[in-house]
Amino acid sequence: MSITVTTEEATEIAERDDAPALELRGIRKIYNSGSVAFEAVRGIDLIVNKGDFVAVTGASGSGKSTLMNMIGCLDRPSYGLYRMEGEEISHKTENELAEIRNRRIGFVFQSYNLLARATALENVEVPLFYRGLPRRKRVPLAKAMLERVGLGARGDHTPAQLSGGEQQRVAIARALVGDPTIVLADEPTGNLDTSRTEEILQLFEALHEEGRTIVLITHEDEVASRAKRSVVMRDGLIIRDDAQ
Ligand SMILES: Nc1ncnc2c1ncn2[C@@H]1O[C@H](COP(=O)(O)OP(=O)(O)O)[C@@H](O)[C@H]1O
Ligand SMILES: [Mg+2]
Repeated sequence: MSITVTTEEATEIAERDDAPALELRGIRKIYNSGSVAFEAVRGIDLIVNKGDFVAVTGASGSGKSTLMNMIGCLDRPSYGLYRMEGEEISHKTENELAEIRNRRIGFVFQSYNLLARATALENVEVPLFYRGLPRRKRVPLAKAMLERVGLGARGDHTPAQLSGGEQQRVAIARALVGDPTIVLADEPTGNLDTSRTEEILQLFEALHEEGRTIVLITHEDEVASRAKRSVVMRDGLIIRDDAQ
């Protein structure tokens, strides 16, 4: 059997090394509920380079989560071009998007989104399970990642047996276990008190120092100030970007 690579694929592969982590051009999202259309994101251009640590801030309803869900391939733009590491994402199939989410993106949510009946260790194993890794390979990787977030001794606890800050650290371990290039976080400290917030921010700073690309949504200025670049949204648009 021979493996053929189309010219288009070859160009994409060649582009990957020096391409930005994320490239968004004219991205718009229109929600249709009944007969009413609402444009939540109204034309966003954004380039995030590899290793960037970007905070996205803006009032509630300004379109931050809508933008993040498109970046994370959880939702599709209505219009615009989206490239990840030089590769065009806009026209991928659902299966291809699932593969991209599994391989290249680590997503952290405000509400942790852990499986309630599974242990911390099993939660961290989930992305590796979907990747088809057998248990004997999943467990050591998941354990190492729980150690990394300071929860090595809590692997057999269920989410209900963990504090909010600990649950978020499990969620971060789950986001990282598959070694993603891009880490996305939507209000990851939104439900945490000051000292738990500090622990989570230190984790993100460590990830940044090891060269990962991070995009973090927050409405707290103190959280945003820890990023290397700040992007402000209002009414579906970027109104300030300190990289420009
Ligand atoms: N699924 C949806 N259907 C219709 N409107 C939505 C949907 N999701 C979000 N919106 C609207 O889009 C706007 C932006 O929402 P969102 O992206 O969640 O903002 P933020 O995260 O900045 O608070 C809001 O006005 C919200 O009501
Ligand atoms: Mg939001």
